[in-house]
Amino acid sequence: MSHPWDRIELQQGDITKLNCDAIVNAANSSLLGGGGVDGAIHRVAGPDLLEECRTLGGCATGEAKLTRGYKLPCRWIVHTVGPVYKDGKRGEPEHLKSCYQSSLNLAVENKIRSLAFPAISCGVYGYPIEDAARIALSTTAAFLADHEEVDLVIFVLFGAADMATYLGVRDELTAGS
Ligand code: AR6
Repeated sequence: MSHPWDRIELQQGDITKLNCDAIVNAANSSLLGGGGVDGAIHRVAGPDLLEECRTLGGCATGEAKLTRGYKLPCRWIVHTVGPVYKDGKRGEPEHLKSCYQSSLNLAVENKIRSLAFPAISCGVYGYPIEDAARIALSTTAAFLADHEEVDLVIFVLFGAADMATYLGVRDELTAGS
């Protein structure tokens, strides 16, 4: 089995353009759309996505639900709900970790082999990017070490500063490995 870090890529750009099996949406618990990456995904996927989302009955923080990708290049969308960041002492790290684990579990259950994540909770929900990057990357690397079914996880960062932060955290986590 290949090393987990060989199956993790970082890219700067717009996640709606990614042509992998599934992209992950940073949704809210209604699953009925919103701003940020959620708004962008619904805009590109088209109104059929909202129709399917209405049938799902929402989603709790830290959990994930699957829909089709409709007009997106990817076949599937994993919708996960990140925590709203207050002070980091109200379960935010555990909830964020659970978003990555739930999304990756859903991928394995549905034979999704390539998956792209945005920086969940790092926009409107206010999670500090460096802390969030540490959770995203370490949780994903640990998961991939146990799951050879997933070939590739791409972290898609919208801005150059977020990209630089993720690169720095990856270097820190892989130092000496
Ligand atoms: N591609 C990749 N990343 C993006 C894109 C894009 N097209 N657009 C924004 N980002 P946010 P949250 C980045 O606010 O903090 C919504 O209203 C953005 O720069 O989208 O989890 C939902 O409905 C940031 O780094 O999600 C919820 O109510 C990251 O995506 C709430 O926002 C996440 O920012 C969720 O807030």
